[in-house]
Amino acid sequence: MAFNLNNFIREKVEEIKKRVNKERAICATSGGVDSVVCAVLGHLALKDRLIAIFINTGLMRQDEPKQVRAILKKMKIKTKIIQASKVFFKALKGKNDPEQKRKAFRETFYKVLGRTLKKFKANYLIQGTIALDIKETKDKIKSQHNVLSQIGINPKKFGLKIIEPLATLYKSEVRKLAKALGLPKNIYERMPFPGPGLAVRIIGEVTPEKIRIVRKATAIIENELSKFKPFQAFAVLLNDRATGVIKNKRKFGNIIVIRSVESENAVVAKPSKIPYKILEKIEKRIIKEIPKITKVLYDITPKPPSTIEYV
Ligand code: XMP
Repeated sequence: MAFNLNNFIREKVEEIKKRVNKERAICATSGGVDSVVCAVLGHLALKDRLIAIFINTGLMRQDEPKQVRAILKKMKIKTKIIQASKVFFKALKGKNDPEQKRKAFRETFYKVLGRTLKKFKANYLIQGTIALDIKETKDKIKSQHNVLSQIGINPKKFGLKIIEPLATLYKSEVRKLAKALGLPKNIYERMPFPGPGLAVRIIGEVTPEKIRIVRKATAIIENELSKFKPFQAFAVLLNDRATGVIKNKRKFGNIIVIRSVESENAVVAKPSKIPYKILEKIEKRIIKEIPKITKVLYDITPKPPSTIEYV
């Protein structure tokens, strides 16, 4: 879809102004390009009547809370960090099924946002839902965390009135918009990261221990692949285990998958053609730096038939 960036920005800022009127809004900001663009549009429309909220779910990547705070500070957007990892781990406890996990995450996410809205005497939630989130939920591929209408949930249940300025756009269009808004390259080129975070990169139950493992492996993969600029690259922790032999001793350890894909809008994707030497380097680092791992695999499945994430 060809769209006029400046007209789009003007229209969305006006729309936010009109809807929120003299009231206040919060913007759920994870630091990804979609939510940062929303925070900027909200800020242009409402100035200090917009507060960007970063929920620390405990499921974020290494140093992410610190990085997101710095990004928003640079843009002079009023920001609050909500520490909520305990409630998310509690909600995810004992849940193995992908859709059960997504449901538990979604319910907790909106409950926390509903409470935050009240705390800041705000009436509206601005969020960065994009067209693919809605499409995949509608097509029952996976119920993305930020889509309520398609699964018959009324946001009023959580005391929320929702504004979604990017609901008609795909990722590549949001990136153009971010550039037009003057955001830095590290934002508009940032890899997509799902709202439920590392929880969708663990097969089976999510525990703080598994999150620590997958977080560390993700940091290694992102670090080693940064110069290749893949569309998305990360680690996945499987639920199975495999026998290894480390320093001549048997070890029944965990399995990490390296996932790296090329795509434009995440609708379809191809595995990245990573040089074998780099894959070997990643394997060595993962085995050395994460003692519980005994096997590292590389996923060569495109989307379709696979999806990008594992849950
Ligand atoms: P899949 O795994 O369906 O993902 O190929 C397509 C794109 O969407 C991201 N993704 C999500 N983003 N909430 C989000 O904000 C979610 O629940 C969610 N699930 C997947 C995924 O990272 C990929 O870029």
